[in-house]
Amino acid sequence: MKLTRHLIILLGICLLPASFARAQESAAETPIIDFGSRFLPAVARQGMVVGPERLAAEIGLDMLRRGGNAVDAAVATGFALAVSYPRAGNLGGGGFMLVHLAEDNRQTLIDYRETAPAAATCDLFLNDEGEVDQQRAYFSHKSAGVPGTVAGLVLAQERYGTLPLSEVMAPAIALARDGFEISFALNQEIAARAERLALNAEARKLFLDAEGRVPEVGTVWQQPDLAQTLQQIAKQGRDGFYTGDVAERIVAEMQAGDGLISAADLAGYQAIEREPVRGRFRDFEVISTPPPSSGGIHILQILNILEGYDLQAMGHNSAAYIHHLAEAMKLAYADRSRYLADPDFEPVPVADLIDKAYAERQRALIKPGRATPSSEVAPGEVLVDASHDTTHYTVADRFGNVVSNTYTLNFSFGSHIAVPGTGMLLNNEMADFAANPGQPNPFGLVEGEANSIEGGKRPLSSMSPTMVFRDGKPWLATGSPGGSLIITSVLQTILNAMAFDMNIATAAAEPRVHHQWLPDKLVVEQGISPDTLELLRALGHNVDVAGRTLGRTQSIMLERGYLLGATDTRRPGGHVAGY
Ligand code: GLY
Repeated sequence: MKLTRHLIILLGICLLPASFARAQESAAETPIIDFGSRFLPAVARQGMVVGPERLAAEIGLDMLRRGGNAVDAAVATGFALAVSYPRAGNLGGGGFMLVHLAEDNRQTLIDYRETAPAAATCDLFLNDEGEVDQQRAYFSHKSAGVPGTVAGLVLAQERYGTLPLSEVMAPAIALARDGFEISFALNQEIAARAERLALNAEARKLFLDAEGRVPEVGTVWQQPDLAQTLQQIAKQGRDGFYTGDVAERIVAEMQAGDGLISAADLAGYQAIEREPVRGRFRDFEVISTPPPSSGGIHILQILNILEGYDLQAMGHNSAAYIHHLAEAMKLAYADRSRYLADPDFEPVPVADLIDKAYAERQRALIKPGRATPSSEVAPGEVLVDASHDTTHYTVADRFGNVVSNTYTLNFSFGSHIAVPGTGMLLNNEMADFAANPGQPNPFGLVEGEANSIEGGKRPLSSMSPTMVFRDGKPWLATGSPGGSLIITSVLQTILNAMAFDMNIATAAAEPRVHHQWLPDKLVVEQGISPDTLELLRALGHNVDVAGRTLGRTQSIMLERGYLLGATDTRRPGGHVAGY
């Protein structure tokens, strides 16, 4: 018995009972998803795009329906999110794309992280007192790194896509040109940043109405300048952005705003294909981002430490489990402060950090009955960030290819500065460098000299598009926004699936915790029982029940020929598109 070809795909985790009835029939004795769970994934058979915004996910799905592959869909979604999800979808930012190529049975990672302009120096954000000037670091023209998104998406398309770039970009161009109705989620996203967006004349023009108000839900929003910029890229590829009219406008805006990005910086920008990092957790292979992201290394490091415990016996989100999880997180984030940086500028001991023997030594430091204060935790010898915004989407096609892509402007709406005539926001990714190495940044994360500012260097990231393989086949792909929260959100999502057999919707929905070594705070989402929190406090943890959520994953699990999608319900607007 088989599922109808045009299986119904629904918003988020809500699936029609009828679909489930058919899925249940088709799966006979062992259902592909646990029907006993409160959270259920959406199901499709041939192709799926899970992302933070509906229109862009549907555009990606349309590429799959036309016969395109997962890379075509990912590139189409990436350009479309620049139109429909401006808080993090972008042309002016950067990111990391992890690709599984079914035909070659190999994985590759496209690093399109921004670079520091050549003129950037290590004291760029320090004032006369030697302290970080937050305005300059986060919301000035100097906070923008050389954008990598266009180079990354075009490189992915050229090397691994199957449709012409112009075809893949056409829906994003139409969306910008013809406009679309402002959704509730977009209305809320703009409202949250309206005050700061209003400070920049071009951003105000783009995102607010003539009276400076947030556009109402249902207002048709057109972005003709952005349509023009996208058109240039569709025609000329990367040159349509990094040289010519768009580049000239970026440079002119830099000159007007005392920024650093030059024509040479833009022309010289290169996306880089890198080997992902790989490790094993029990029967699973976990593949993720290498430096200049810290994400993959620390996910593997924490998994290696936790592999030595019987997590199921502890019980999911029990005090014992959270205690060991938090202690492992502290050790990993301490290492992050010392060892992680752009590998093209600083040697990063990747193999040592993800070595099982190193994890064993680190595990020995964890005391089962006492939280180690962060002041007693130091980077090992091998040897934040706040909730910055970013976004993630995941794609799977009928050929077996999978794409897991995380990209960002850093903060929601980046630097909140738009480049006149382009419809495009500038990132504030330079804030991901250690502006004052060795000193806690305004969010408490301490970073070392290795991540200090230097022309041409990529700032350290936490972005972690990740895939888990079982029996040599892709089984789960996910990723999340959230600055330093990305690593722990992705980690817990895949751990919930690997160690606790949760279906992907449940794995994404369960309450999360986060510890980043400094500040010495165990942040927990609502939903962990007060009894458990009391036990954790008794162990010595400084428990902080977050008034906000941690991360927002977009995931696909591949089970016995089915695609199971879960968009995290922690924020509005996410969508699972499939067929
Ligand atoms: N800007 C967030 C990150 O790269 O981790």
